[in-house]
Amino acid sequence: MEIHIDLTGTRGHRDAIYRQLRAAILAGRIRPGEALPPTRELAQRLAVSRTTVSAAYDRLTAEGFLAGRVGAGTFVTASPVERPSPVLDAPGVQPLPEWDAVPPPPAPFAPAPEFDFRPGVPDLSLFPFDTWRRLITQRLRAGQADLMTYGDPQGHAGLRAEIARHVGVSRDVRASAAQVVVTAGAQQTTDLVARVLLRPGDLAAVEDPGYPPPRLVLGARGIRVAPVPVDAAGIVVDAIPAGTRLVYVTPSHQYPLGLSMSLDRRLELLDWAERTDAVLVEDDYDSEFRYTGRPLEPLHSLDSRGRVVYVGSFSKVLSPALRLGFLVAPPSLVPALVKARYLTDWHAPNVEQAALAAFMAEGGFARHVRRMRKVYRARHELLTRALAAFDFLTPLPSSAGLHLSAVAAADCGPLVRAARRRGVRLYSLGDFGVGERRHGLVFGYGAVAAERIEPGLARLRALADGGAA
Ligand SMILES: Cc1ncc(COP(=O)(O)O)c(C=O)c1O
Repeated sequence: MEIHIDLTGTRGHRDAIYRQLRAAILAGRIRPGEALPPTRELAQRLAVSRTTVSAAYDRLTAEGFLAGRVGAGTFVTASPVERPSPVLDAPGVQPLPEWDAVPPPPAPFAPAPEFDFRPGVPDLSLFPFDTWRRLITQRLRAGQADLMTYGDPQGHAGLRAEIARHVGVSRDVRASAAQVVVTAGAQQTTDLVARVLLRPGDLAAVEDPGYPPPRLVLGARGIRVAPVPVDAAGIVVDAIPAGTRLVYVTPSHQYPLGLSMSLDRRLELLDWAERTDAVLVEDDYDSEFRYTGRPLEPLHSLDSRGRVVYVGSFSKVLSPALRLGFLVAPPSLVPALVKARYLTDWHAPNVEQAALAAFMAEGGFARHVRRMRKVYRARHELLTRALAAFDFLTPLPSSAGLHLSAVAAADCGPLVRAARRRGVRLYSLGDFGVGERRHGLVFGYGAVAAERIEPGLARLRALADGGAA
C-alpha cells in the first residue's frame, strides 16, 4: 500500500513516521488487517535508515496498533478509536434550550443482568420467531412490488382492519378501520396528537407518578406539562389545572402503580373533558394481559362525544423492536393525524405491517396472546406470593400487564442501586414521580423467567436485611 509520509522539515524522522502512521490508523485511512510496507522498502522511499523505520514500527507494535506475522509482514491490528473531526472543538450550532431538559435516551439494555425485573418488556425468548420468519419471507417471496414503494401514512389497510377487529373483540373499542392510524409505537401517538391539537405554551397534564416519555414529548414541543397526582381511583380530576387541553392517562393499568382507574373516576374524567373541551389520550399499552376480574370499559367505549384517542402498542404483546402501535381517533381528528404522520416519517414499514396483518388474520396473534397470558399469569402469581414475605413492602393491587408495584415507608433508591450492583435490576417508584416522589419498588415480570423470580427476590431481601433498604 502506498502510504503518504512527509518528512520535509522534520528532524526526528522516527517520531514523524510514528506520528503520521498512528494518525492514519486512528483516522481509518489505514484499516485493520492492511499490511504496511516492509521496513526496507519504506526506508528506501523516505531516504532514511531501516533502523529508523523499524523503531517507529516497534513503537506502534508495542502500543497495539501493529502486529508482525513471521514471513508475512506487518499488519494494522487496531480499529480506529477516534476520528478527529476538524470541527470537534468548535462551539457549533446549539439546539433549543428545551432539549436540555430532555434526558438522554436509555442505554441499550444488553447485557441482561442475572435477575431482570425491568418493567415494560415482554419475554423476547418467546417471540414467535419461526412464524414471523415465515410471514416476512412469504411477503418478500411473493414479489409484491407494492410493498416496496411508499405506503399509506394511515397504515396498511389490512392491518388497520385487523386492529379494528382486535380492539373491538378484546376491548370493546368500537371503531372502523378508517379511525385507526398505525403508529411507530405508543410513544409516537402523544407527539402526533400534540402536533394537531396543541401550540407551544398550551397546557397538558400527565399522571404523577407516570410514564415519562409522553411528558418529555410534550415538553420538547414547548407545551407546558402539569403533573397531576394519582390516588387509588386514578388521576385526581379535581387537581387538573384550569386551561388544560390534553390529558394523558393509563386507566387499565396505571403506569407505574399498576392500579385500574375506577368507573366513577373514568366517568368524572370524561365529564371534565366534555366541560372543558379537552382531549384524553388513553394509553392501553398492556391490557391484553389480564389475569383476574373483568376489565373495566375503556374510556373510549364510555365516550359518546369524541373526546378520546385510544392508544395501543405491539411492543408488549410481540416486541418493542417492531416499533408498531396504533391509535383509534375520533373521525374529526383522523385526517390531521394522518397528515402529521406523513410529515413526521411518512409511514410504518410496509412488509412488517403486512406480515402482522396476516398473523392477526390467520389467528396466530390471538394464540400468541393466550400463550403469553398464561406465562405472565404464572409469574404474576409467583411474584405476588413472594412479595408477601417482604415486611417493608405493601404490594398494590394489580391484575394486568407486565409489572406490579409495592409501596414502602422509606426511599428505595439506595436498595435499587445496591441491587443493581448485585445483578438484580429493578426500579424505584421514585424514578417515575415528578412532584411528590413515592417510596416503593416496581417489579417487571416480562423479562424474568419464572424460576428466577424467587432467587432474585431472595437476593433483594438479603440486601434489604443487610441494611441497603
Ligand atoms: C405506559 C406505557 N405506554 C406505552 C408503552 C409502549 O410504548 P411503545 O409502543 O412506544 O413501545 C410503554 C412501554 O414501556 C409503557 O410503559
